Amino acid sequence: MVDTTDYNETLRPQFHFTARKNWLNDPNGLFYYQGIYHLFFQHNPFGLEWGNMTWGHAISPDLVHWQQLPNVLEPDELGTMFSGSAVVDWENTTEFQQGGHPPIVLIYTAAGNTSPASEGKSFTQCLAYSTDGGYTWQKYPGNPVLACVRPENRDPKVIWHAPSRRWIMTLYLDGNEFAFFSSPDLKTWSPLHTLFAPDSIECPDFFEISLEGSSNFSKWVWIAGNGRYYIGSFDGKHFQPETNLIVGDYGPNCYACQTYSDAPEGRRIQIAWMRGGKYPGMPFNQQMSFPCELRLVQTPLGLRLSRLPVREIETLYIQRHYYSEIPLQNNSFTLPNLNNGLIDFSCQIEPESHGRLKFKIHGQEVVFDLHSGTISYQGQTAPLLPLSGPLKVRILVDRTSLELFAQDGLVSFTSCYLPDSEFPEFMVSAQSGHIQIRDFTLWELGSAWTH
Ligand code: FRU
Repeated sequence: MVDTTDYNETLRPQFHFTARKNWLNDPNGLFYYQGIYHLFFQHNPFGLEWGNMTWGHAISPDLVHWQQLPNVLEPDELGTMFSGSAVVDWENTTEFQQGGHPPIVLIYTAAGNTSPASEGKSFTQCLAYSTDGGYTWQKYPGNPVLACVRPENRDPKVIWHAPSRRWIMTLYLDGNEFAFFSSPDLKTWSPLHTLFAPDSIECPDFFEISLEGSSNFSKWVWIAGNGRYYIGSFDGKHFQPETNLIVGDYGPNCYACQTYSDAPEGRRIQIAWMRGGKYPGMPFNQQMSFPCELRLVQTPLGLRLSRLPVREIETLYIQRHYYSEIPLQNNSFTLPNLNNGLIDFSCQIEPESHGRLKFKIHGQEVVFDLHSGTISYQGQTAPLLPLSGPLKVRILVDRTSLELFAQDGLVSFTSCYLPDSEFPEFMVSAQSGHIQIRDFTLWELGSAWTH
């Protein structure tokens, strides 16, 4: 059948990843190898709703321009293909290598009893690998590599822990319980310990990250499916949280985030499923968040992760609107007639500002209350951190999503919206008080499909 998708349907995101057709959910198996970012995703190849879980595949040189490739993991007699991760096995610990490329290995959940072919089977953890740098994949004949621990255990995230020369897996068990395992070769796994994360389920992530600006201080971060995270220490056997569970994103549509394995320059790049977006009448359903870079920073409340859009978004910049100072007092400032409504906006709110500031973008209203130190959008409210200096604001707007980053990414909102019929416009107003905006910079973006 000829594929007529032109990626320009009315509600089609223009710089966020969507499946060409049909349903997607969690990002899976994120890895970088030889100049290419690979993105796999939970996919229903046969319908607009969740089901028939299969791993879709897409690649990008810059995290902005994506090309969807054929699906890689199809349901089999062990189950449908639930979420998981990827690693580059540089030291060939799996002995899967054939030829010049290190093996690249996907670690995924086979969800038994979710299809007629897997009737009566349980949920197990399995491997698939590529010996050609990530383009063709085969399932490991010795699957499963980790038998069922709890009936619906799933979503293995694996990393290489160099000091102990072990692979470390964090896995969702059930309830609010997760576990850690270790392995010398990805094929045999020993349990380490369990981890409790209040109100959290599914899709854990786990990685080491250096403190911003420091070359010799790092921490370990463990993230749950809802984006909440612990910061702590890890000695190869035990992860010790040293914080409470911290909110990672305040938006209604941030779920199952995962970070890249082997990203260059030590970058920690995260993509989430924007769970819950609506796309009536479209041939696809659901989108990914725009990739963000994570940093570990010191704040008055202790260590925190910040999330900011990857710099590669600049490849889409078309036209800049810049105003060095905008004073607002019971008035508003509007940029009408934006070409296609795709926006990367940033500004700073001067510290002496007070009152309520409202952004209205394509009918969406984001309110900063400088008195109470909060941001509100789509019925959710996020507290700002007690920081001095100007308040930095960044907003990305695509046809059906709005991502807000305040205080250099320390507060983020990942959200979807359905555009109203208004002509795209960007308005900022002071609802009360006196607000001084500095370095108002609005970039109109091109579509990643054409630009
Ligand atoms: C999270 C999740 C995972 C599971 C996958 C199935 O959204 O429920 O726990 O592996 O989706 O599609």
